[in-house]
Amino acid sequence: MSRATPKSPSLAAVAKREDAAAALKRIICLGLLDKSRKVIRREDRVEIPVLEKLGEFDMVVQDRPSFYRKLPDLTAALRGQIPEGLLRLLPRGWFILGEVIIVKVHPRLRDYESHIGDALLRYYPRCSTVLADEGISGQLRQPVRRTIVGSRSMTTHKENGVVFHLDARVVMFSPGNLKERMRMSRLGQGETVVDMFAGIGYFSIPMAVYSRPRKILAIELNPQSYQFLCQNIEANEVQDIVQPILGDCAVKTPQGIADRVLMGMVQVTNRYLETGIAALKPGGTLHYHQTIPSWQFPEAAVEEVKEAAAAMGRRAEILKCLRVKKFSPGVVHAVIDARIDRDF
Ligand SMILES: C[S@@+](CC[C@H](N)C(=O)[O-])C[C@H]1O[C@@H](n2cnc3c(N)ncnc32)[C@H](O)[C@@H]1O
Repeated sequence: MSRATPKSPSLAAVAKREDAAAALKRIICLGLLDKSRKVIRREDRVEIPVLEKLGEFDMVVQDRPSFYRKLPDLTAALRGQIPEGLLRLLPRGWFILGEVIIVKVHPRLRDYESHIGDALLRYYPRCSTVLADEGISGQLRQPVRRTIVGSRSMTTHKENGVVFHLDARVVMFSPGNLKERMRMSRLGQGETVVDMFAGIGYFSIPMAVYSRPRKILAIELNPQSYQFLCQNIEANEVQDIVQPILGDCAVKTPQGIADRVLMGMVQVTNRYLETGIAALKPGGTLHYHQTIPSWQFPEAAVEEVKEAAAAMGRRAEILKCLRVKKFSPGVVHAVIDARIDRDF
């Protein structure tokens, strides 16, 4: 989406790659990170978008700033209902699952969140419920959400011709992973696939619907997500392809049978790498998701794959390195595709 020229120039602090993590932390602490623009790596340096000039850093005016997508502005809708001084804290982003809108609300706007909910429902009349998003917690990646307006968090989200039943208060669904879900829907034809972190079927179901693998073993640890996985397998009529398995993939993943292994987890995925690699036949493909500092993309994740393969006496040939989405300021959710060859 193109944008109007910003009123102020697109200022960025410049740091060497090795200093970028500390610089970003400092800029966030100062409250001066410009969240409308992306952190950009340019050869040996990193540009961190800032709201104003900072004496302690080298500065540049970016000639090619990269912006996040822009949504409708709530300020005009809520002027007069919220104290003028708090308008700048209004959410600038949200996402929609079926009939549910999910939005992060600044703690200082808590007393006004019903106004925010009502304004959002006016923008999206087909929606009925607004949930406040307070993050994702723990190994099961469970969302922490409160209802602001409405009462129905059970919904049906349709995407790319695939139906996902889910409870938006209970299970995650990342809008930023859309491109990856689409990509997975084009892979796997005729193959045996293991989806180690299947959730409600984020990757398994689009793959089954469009590519018709021979079999997908979809492993999920959280019983609530597993229930939705089973429901979604039926709703999309892929019972003959997707076999749901309730349990820990560290225990349930079979060895040496897969043409393709999906590791759609972040932050702790490295702990399961050897299990994922062991599941693959020689020449099989691994899709390894991980969160890494954006300026270490893709090396940090590539190293993890290569080292784990080498430790098992196998060789990883890197096929592709993709950015799935921004995970947090300066951190990217990456996916590494690797062909895992037979033993040396
Ligand atoms: C981050 S979510 C999957 C996100 C998904 N890839 C997407 O596109 O939105 C990870 C899923 O893995 C599950 N999980 C976490 N640890 C697991 C384990 N050891 N075995 C199986 N599933 C696990 C969680 O319950 C969660 O449903």
